[in-house]
Amino acid sequence: MIKGNGPLKGEIEISGAKNAALPIMTASLLASGEHTIEGVPGLRDVRTMGRLLSNMGLKVAIENNLARIDSLSVTNFEAPYELVKTMRASVLVLCPLVARFGRARVSLPGGCAIGERPINLHLMGLEKMGAKIELESGYVIAKADRLRGASIYFDTPTVTGTENLMMAAALAKGTTILENAAGEPEVIDLANCLISMGARITGAGERVIVIQGVDELRPAENYRIIPDRIEAGTFMTIAGITGGDLTLIGCRPDHMDALMMKLKDCGLVFEQTGKGLRVSSSQRLIAKDIKTMPYPGFPTDMQAQFMSLMSTAEGTGVITETIFENRFMHVAELRRMGADIHIEGGTATVKGVERLKGAHIMATDLRASASLVVAALAADGESTIHRIYHLDRGYEMMDEKLRKVGALIERSSEET
Ligand code: EPZ
Repeated sequence: MIKGNGPLKGEIEISGAKNAALPIMTASLLASGEHTIEGVPGLRDVRTMGRLLSNMGLKVAIENNLARIDSLSVTNFEAPYELVKTMRASVLVLCPLVARFGRARVSLPGGCAIGERPINLHLMGLEKMGAKIELESGYVIAKADRLRGASIYFDTPTVTGTENLMMAAALAKGTTILENAAGEPEVIDLANCLISMGARITGAGERVIVIQGVDELRPAENYRIIPDRIEAGTFMTIAGITGGDLTLIGCRPDHMDALMMKLKDCGLVFEQTGKGLRVSSSQRLIAKDIKTMPYPGFPTDMQAQFMSLMSTAEGTGVITETIFENRFMHVAELRRMGADIHIEGGTATVKGVERLKGAHIMATDLRASASLVVAALAADGESTIHRIYHLDRGYEMMDEKLRKVGALIERSSEET
């Protein structure tokens, strides 16, 4: 439950990036021994990944943001439907399993709230590297004696597809070229972790990544993952919509160019201080248009939060979602709070209103739930956000972090 309480002010610690932690955890399958990873966020999805790996026989211990993963004995090579359906990133075990053990049985992810989420490009690449792929009752069965290097072109940049095939290539025989690869900071972070394990990768972050396969890798040793740019971006929109003044500690502004440029255009003020990145806004924001694009464009994972910000800005903002086919689930909920939003296909036109009003609203997916928190913090009166477990998938201790800067936010256990 959240009660609008005016401008939020203070300091917020940014946690490690969920979308870097997940692939880096699966990289532990590539080398036998104890991997230690620092800055791992305490998230539902990270715990789910931990369960998935321990079901395979790895010893996983995560506490105080340090993950210890011992991959000495991997006893089963399967990612079951029960786990994969709750977290699509489970598909990231597919390529490390085939690369190191020559086999994998991974449930097809199935769709999720924001779209169909196919993995055809992951499978295309793996086949080009010599794996035999069969689909059987909703599972991908992949086999290969030894993967071999190949030239792979992605019809569309895919983040986990690039990560999966980078891991396959790390232990393949020969050289692999990934073309039209995703360049997100989380892809670069995985590459840097693999390089620290002995992999030979050049071009991560560029359109073309070249990986020279090696016979063996060593465990990651105290690899620290990058901070979460989407968590940081979410708190920027919270500073903007409440007219507040927040200092984000430990974030990487260089990972957020497109987002920060756009937010500056809307009227947010940024200042790099000794403590961190200070973000504030003192007057009503100006509505601007966005179009989500692969990195370094405006991130789709910030589209919902930006829409909340636009709902009380001056003027009209046009939001075009180009990555996922159904990422407007938050619109109906924002309308319940009084937002004026019109949808036409993949485009939402947001006409700013003076104030939003608190209401009972429903979280449907991770970033939609974040957008509802953003809106509720600035709305008049109280909002109750239902199914808040979606939020816990990707935000570490969000209610605690917000209470520290003056938010009136409580969590109740029973679902009314
Ligand atoms: C990653 O998902 C992120 N998840 C998503 O974050 C993020 O929204 C997305 O990248 C886009 O940036 C993780 O990193 C764990 P894609 P991913 O493959 O890899 C199509 C969050 O909120 N595609 O880059 O699944 C696909 O349908 C989550 O933290 C194919 O057609 O996304 C989509 O339209 C949500 N075939 C586009 O590519 C494929 O084989 C981009 O998807 C793969 C993808």
